[in-house]
Amino acid sequence: MSDTPAVSVYGGITNRRITVTDLAKAKDAGEKWPMLTSYDAVTAGLFEEAGVPVLLVGDSAAMVVHGHSTTLPITMDELVPLTAAVVRGTSRALVVADLPFGSYQEGPVQALQSATRFMKESGAHAVKLEGGRRVTPQIRALVEAGIPVMAHVGLTPQSVNALGGYKVQGRGEAGHALLDDALAVQEAGAFAVVLEVVPHDLAERVTKELDIPTIGIGAGNATDAQVLVWQDLLGLTPGRAPKFVKPYADLRGVMTGAVRAWAQDVTSGEYPDLDHSYN
Ligand code: KIV
Repeated sequence: MSDTPAVSVYGGITNRRITVTDLAKAKDAGEKWPMLTSYDAVTAGLFEEAGVPVLLVGDSAAMVVHGHSTTLPITMDELVPLTAAVVRGTSRALVVADLPFGSYQEGPVQALQSATRFMKESGAHAVKLEGGRRVTPQIRALVEAGIPVMAHVGLTPQSVNALGGYKVQGRGEAGHALLDDALAVQEAGAFAVVLEVVPHDLAERVTKELDIPTIGIGAGNATDAQVLVWQDLLGLTPGRAPKFVKPYADLRGVMTGAVRAWAQDVTSGEYPDLDHSYN
């Protein structure tokens, strides 16, 4: 338990960055909060203006920014500048940098080198890595170095080849192992843990057992926080969305319509008119 009272992380703290201590207090106070991905300064500023207290520069950038079919190919060199842009575009959000595949699996030394690079070169306030018990040595090393760590269990997309696809994790007996993973990352010092695509009753149990905030994606509504890839939330991602995605806008329709209207005005000569020209 924290010793000073919680101030709401959603809309309550406006004059400084949200910290991991604020998130711990939010858990104690039973406050739920939203986290969104962001990969650039403009959306980061907009999401922060909408009150989102935590932004994740996810390795999902591999897919939604760089056009890969999985998160595996993205590198530190590609993620560091995106993270720096998100930090520059915000003044209030806690910015979490996702350690990409291959940047921490070798062990604590490699994890510390990669996380240190994110903190120094991008200004990120925390890092995230995937895995449960198998990455606790890495989590311990980072926490000992003063780097806040968000863990990620359940469907861990960097292991998609080993998992045999993007499938629900932790059903039936496998739920015990998932709970053990979540307890292990907490014990290693993680300040929060993402639960991705797990049955909602398991996510509820994990949330009750853990002292640190749980952040669900496809994990029902009992978790302390929710995260989504912003292009999914706002209806920009092409194709069929996973079951857990509820689009709150149709940006794909809005943007396609606007670009088509502009393109037609260009071809017809209606744009730019005199109102949008200089004398
Ligand atoms: O990379 C990412 O965007 C993520 C979230 C979906 C949790 O890991």
